[in-house]
Parts: sequence; structure tokens; C-alpha cells
Amino acid sequence: MAKNGSISTSVIKRLPRYYRFLGELKKQGVERISSRELSQLMKLTASQIRQDLNCFGGFGQQGYGYHVDSLHFEIGKILGVDKNFKTILIGAGNLGRAIATHINFETRGCKLIGIFDINPELTGVEVAGLKVLHTDELEAFCKENSPFVAVLCTPKANTQKIADDLVRMGIKAFWNYSHYDLSIDYDNIVVENVHLGDSLLCLTYGANNIDNKE
Ligand code: NAI
Repeated sequence: MAKNGSISTSVIKRLPRYYRFLGELKKQGVERISSRELSQLMKLTASQIRQDLNCFGGFGQQGYGYHVDSLHFEIGKILGVDKNFKTILIGAGNLGRAIATHINFETRGCKLIGIFDINPELTGVEVAGLKVLHTDELEAFCKENSPFVAVLCTPKANTQKIADDLVRMGIKAFWNYSHYDLSIDYDNIVVENVHLGDSLLCLTYGANNIDNKE
């Protein structure tokens, strides 16, 4: 099997979608699926699917297709969903609270163990079953619990400083919502910048290019 680090970003970006579709099939009790059926379902070509999955050694069998449960499991392993990465969330404002409450971290390899905010009025407020802690407690918390992932839901202006501090405290991965593109100036640190507005712009691009000739 190829080392995951050598897989192209475009393939990696498609894996969560495979994982999601296979999870749905599994829930429906589907045991196996051909690459043609999977391609119809996912609106990808069958050869794209074969190529993608071959990057990891290929999971299909000629004449059988894919075993849904094992493919789901293997892709999950590649994605690290079995890792239970300890996760903290910084910024318990509107977005932070929504993410803490609505994202199922545990099915995606992360366990939310702490929520922090600089605003003392939020200290002790319960969000997603956790009491918000003041950022003054962040360093001691990191020392004691060694979180690996930080979700950043803080204003843009503070983000780089917060990230620098968190790297010093041992954080290795950032899920960054702050509208500030964290640059990876650090070795061995993973950053996933999320801009929901970019997705909307993809929609407006599509809307802008609808053929209205008829
Ligand atoms: P908000 O003002 O409701 O919450 C921000 C929270 O961060 C506040 O509770 C504040 O006390 C806290 N905070 C500020 N500095 C901090 C620090 N140094 N350490 C810890 N906590 C700190 O704002 P909202 O609506 O929750 O948005 C948060 C950020 O997310 C904003 O920058 C916003 O532009 C961005 N955003 C990003 C989206 C995306 O798609 N990436 C979508 C929506 C908002």
C-alpha cells in the first residue's frame, strides 16, 4: 500500500466523500458495490474511482466489486477516523458554539475535550456538554491533556498569534475558520483553512454560467 503522504491532494480531497457515501450504503445494508454502480451514485467515472482507490493499493476484486464495509473501514483508517485526536475549540462565539454543537467530531476521528474563550462572561457556559474555559487556563490544560487538534473560531486579527501560542503548547493540527489563511510556517503542522463563503462563490460561479438560451 502506498504511503498516504505521497497521495495527491486531489485524491485525498475526494476520500471524505467516498467515506460518506460508503457509510450511507453500509447503513442501508448494502454489502458490495461495483465501481460502475458507485460511479453512478457519486457522479464520478468508474475509472476515476478505480484510479483513486488504486493509490492505496486498490480494494476491489475483479467480478465482485467492492466490499462496502471493508472499503469504508479502510478509507476511514486512511483518513484517521480511528485516531480519536484530542481536540480543543478556541472562540465560543456564534460560529464556535454552532460547530461544537453540530459537528460530530467523534465520527471524524476527533474528540472535543475543551472549549476556550477570552471573554470572561462565557466562562462556565455549557456548550456541547463542556463548560467553556477562560483562555488563561489554556496552557495548563494543554500541559495536562496534550490536545492535538485546535479548531479556531476567533476573529481574523487574533488568529496568527493564537496559532503561534498553540503550536508552542503542542497543537499539531488546525481546523481554521477564522477567515485568516494560516500559513504553514511551521514544520509538521497541518492546517485546514475553511471558508464557507468560498463554497458559496462556487455556487454563484455555477449560477452565473447557467445556459439561459432557451
Ligand atoms: P463571535 O464574535 O460571535 O465569536 C468570536 C469569539 O472569539 C468571541 O466569543 C470572542 O470572545 C472570542 N475571542 C476573541 N479573541 C479570542 C482569543 N484571543 N482567544 C479566545 N477567544 C477569543 O464571531 P463568530 O460569528 O463566531 O465568528 C468567528 C470568526 O469566524 C470570525 O472571524 C468570522 O469572520 C469567522 N467566520 C468564518 C466562517 C468561515 O466559513 N470560515 C463563517 C462564519 C464566520
